[in-house]
Amino acid sequence: MNYNKRTHTCGDLRLSNLNNEVTLNGWVAKKRDLGGLIFIDLRDRYGVTQLKITPDKKQLHDIASKLGLEFVISSKGMVIKRESINPNIPTGEIEIDVNELQILNESLPTPFIVEDDVKASEELRFQYRYLDLRRQKMAQNLITRNKVFQTVHKFFEKEGFIEIETPILMKSTPEGARDYLVPSRIHKGKFFALPQSPQTYKQILMVAGMDKYVQICKCFRDEDLRADRQPEFTQIDLEMSFVDQDDVFKVTENLMYNIWKDASGIEIQTPFPKYTYDDCIKYFGTDKPDLRVKGEIKLHHLNKIFTNSEFAPFKDALTNNGSISGISVKDIQISRKVIDELTEFVKKSGFGGLGYFKFSNNEFSGPLAKFLSDTEKESLIGEFELNSDSTVFILSGDYKKVCETLGSLRLKIAETFQLINESDDKFLWVTDFPLFAFDEEEGRYVGEHHVFTSPKPEFEHLLDSDKKEEILSIRANCYDLVLNGQELASGSIRIHNYEMQKKVFNLIGLSDEEARQKFGFILDAFRYGAPPHGGIAPGLDRIVARLCGVKDIREVIAFPKSTSTASLMDESPSIVSDKQLKELSIKITSEK
Ligand code: AMO
Repeated sequence: MNYNKRTHTCGDLRLSNLNNEVTLNGWVAKKRDLGGLIFIDLRDRYGVTQLKITPDKKQLHDIASKLGLEFVISSKGMVIKRESINPNIPTGEIEIDVNELQILNESLPTPFIVEDDVKASEELRFQYRYLDLRRQKMAQNLITRNKVFQTVHKFFEKEGFIEIETPILMKSTPEGARDYLVPSRIHKGKFFALPQSPQTYKQILMVAGMDKYVQICKCFRDEDLRADRQPEFTQIDLEMSFVDQDDVFKVTENLMYNIWKDASGIEIQTPFPKYTYDDCIKYFGTDKPDLRVKGEIKLHHLNKIFTNSEFAPFKDALTNNGSISGISVKDIQISRKVIDELTEFVKKSGFGGLGYFKFSNNEFSGPLAKFLSDTEKESLIGEFELNSDSTVFILSGDYKKVCETLGSLRLKIAETFQLINESDDKFLWVTDFPLFAFDEEEGRYVGEHHVFTSPKPEFEHLLDSDKKEEILSIRANCYDLVLNGQELASGSIRIHNYEMQKKVFNLIGLSDEEARQKFGFILDAFRYGAPPHGGIAPGLDRIVARLCGVKDIREVIAFPKSTSTASLMDESPSIVSDKQLKELSIKITSEK
């Protein structure tokens, strides 16, 4: 097909181009016929430019009358000044007085109108993703994603890292989430797994002497989806030899600084503050605290204040080794209706109710007030620094449950009273996680991060303990990077010693034989001169989502999976032919 190729994009032209003869190619975003005077909004990924066809151009009118939305056209004409300026778009001061018009391709009527404020359901948007991606917002998200890619490559090149690809077909190592499995045709009855992350490969690369590895890699996990979770997602995966935690922090902070600067022009503050896991639980009730909450709302622990309390729930908590803890909200009038809502909210976590008192003009009021002695009141004024109108919420019971619920309440209050500045970015490091958690269902220890994480040296001796509370007290050389209440990255300094790795495998319930069968390759590698090493993996989708100001990472992934883990555009997963199954010796025993 012969056609005029574009001289400019639909986002290029300004007043400085007046009287230029130009050609634009693009999609019809809008068409208006004002009694012979036709206006067309022509769109490409760079922007929108208005085309004008005057009533005298009969032949162009015939073509224009055939145009539907999303037709692909080529138009040639003169850049002229627009009579009614559109201040909302960069090309809004000009338009094209069209002399030639050609239809390059037609479009069926689209299932939804391609516009930024899209009205279509999520299903429709995913099914017709190519239409969805024509929206400027979506294009912009992919452009930001590309920017982050480029910054990551440039940054690590400068830092002396090498990018190394690791296999997509690997051994199934069933710790963590569920694996996606790939059957082998050659080795009947055997399976590859898609990597949940390149964790073992990057550690083996350290043994191989590649002392600074990085890769922007795809990871696959068969787990339940949420707004910040996809079954297939992207990590900036890195590993370094001969480093400690601070070295990993420095590289990661510099990386984040560069990403934020390049992608949004913002110079973030480094170094990031550090909180231990125990302190995060103690002050924020979560290991992912959102530090943007205004008014310094933190958890306070009040057991000492209430040692002599006669109030039954408090007495109960103290005798059962539990906790009495609270948060205060200052200078906000909290209505009875809101308090009722907050009470319902904590009831969902299994609490009978939400205790509270108010403090105003040096007076205590509210349901808890009558149970407070003068000494307790005095201590509470000191503890919460009560000097203005305040409401103090108190829960009592199991320490962890109390902390977690007050942590959620803190966020609920922040949301209700808009105490979070959404445009702020607050990073922090969370350190000293427990090495193990106890899985009650399976009745065994599991790695809190993953099984290659090293214990802090002062806890190493406890790996030999047979006491549960001692094993659970072991703290790990493990860290998370948290941004605005979301885990952005996770990593650790690894075990590099054969005996210690075996001990950890034993502790999570693997016999020597099972450990050998599942992880023999890495155990072997550790016996051939494994250097001390550590690393981290920031989630790229979460970073880009934040930079684009969206909560759902699917908005920054070109072809995401739906909530039911399906690709609605190509209709995968799909059934395969009997021939394919036969080759793989696979029989489907039940179908849904
Ligand atoms: P982890 O499993 O904590 O660590 O993952 C690291 C980061 O990857 C992102 N992430 C996800 N993003 C989208 N969808 C998901 N389903 C998903 N799961 C994780 C998060 C998370 O912080 N190998 C280790 C890292 C290491 O120890 O170096 C690992 O994968 O941003």
